Amino acid sequence: MKRSIYRSALACGVLLSIATSNCLNFTSNKTQYGGFLRTDFVQELVATFNPDVFVETGTFNGMNAKTIAPYFKQIHTVELSRELYEQARSALAGVPNVSIYWGNSPELIAQLAPQLKGHVMFWLDAHYSGENTAMSNDDTNDPEAITSIRKELKAIKDNNLTNCTILIDDIRGFGTIVDDVEYLGCWAYPSVQEVYEMGKQINPNFVCALLGDILLMYDATKFSPNISSVAQACTESRLYDGRNLSDDELLMHEQVIMHAQGAEKDFIIDLYHRMTDWKDPMFHHDLWYGLVSMGSGDWQEALVGLSKVPHRLEYFNKRRETVSNPLPYNHWRIQKYMDEIKAHIGL
Ligand SMILES: C[S@@+](CC[C@H](N)C(=O)[O-])C[C@H]1O[C@@H](n2cnc3c(N)ncnc32)[C@H](O)[C@@H]1O
Repeated sequence: MKRSIYRSALACGVLLSIATSNCLNFTSNKTQYGGFLRTDFVQELVATFNPDVFVETGTFNGMNAKTIAPYFKQIHTVELSRELYEQARSALAGVPNVSIYWGNSPELIAQLAPQLKGHVMFWLDAHYSGENTAMSNDDTNDPEAITSIRKELKAIKDNNLTNCTILIDDIRGFGTIVDDVEYLGCWAYPSVQEVYEMGKQINPNFVCALLGDILLMYDATKFSPNISSVAQACTESRLYDGRNLSDDELLMHEQVIMHAQGAEKDFIIDLYHRMTDWKDPMFHHDLWYGLVSMGSGDWQEALVGLSKVPHRLEYFNKRRETVSNPLPYNHWRIQKYMDEIKAHIGL
């Protein structure tokens, strides 16, 4: 219902920003960055996709699986670090519907495939995250050692697990491709476009929704999730590759971001503060912050955010070699927004 309202609002050029609790939003759907899935988000996912089984890659200490266990019939979770696996096994003892495995996630997906019956929900979260967490191999310059995401998606495809919904965590670290230029997020991670392409090889009916720091891929012929207008707009803005939207469509989506409210606006602001001074900030975080600041009439902050967009530096290449290439993102609309801001400030 809200989706069709949103579509007609865009068609009329009317600005609309809806963020309700009974909806998949562009907010923190975890208790914190790197924390557990929020149970209200999990309940919304279960109500929408009704999965038969949940597969988590990257168990960590098991607390996420334990927290969400009441909402699923069956959970499988895999952890590569022996130490963390043992810790999680103790934490999950007595939780009858959670099976925990020690191993490498892509191999575990292949191994489990024959017993994954019905609709499978994947929570792909296996990556090196410092301290005592595992790398998939010993080569610290190999992207595959840092994140298993490419091999996990390939394992889902190779094992014909078409009847699934996929959630991928930590999208703030994934890169983006615009006009054939790849802007890296965290050096080891693929671009969101690459991930979406791999998703469509699993199921050509997959569409994406960016729900805060999580990317959702679902079969649009089977499900019609209630996705907020801001989450849809951020998805379109993040997946824009220079060709897949007209200028008018892109500007309309960014108008929706500009008028984000409440928890969605807070998440955009938080994302900017966490990411902007990081080594490999994705320019979208600065752009979206600039947009919401414009929407609030905070022109000075809008100028600060937008000014950062064209001054992007790539520190690493995909082998983690220091390159420090300036890789500016120059698009005419950034200048258009800046001109608008300067007119308000009187510059
Ligand atoms: C961010 S933590 C997972 C957090 C957990 N899913 C949660 O929601 O609280 C990532 C975990 O993935 C594990 N890991 C890294 N590579 C892996 C692989 N190839 N297979 C399985 N686990 C892996 C790490 O040891 C780490 O514990």
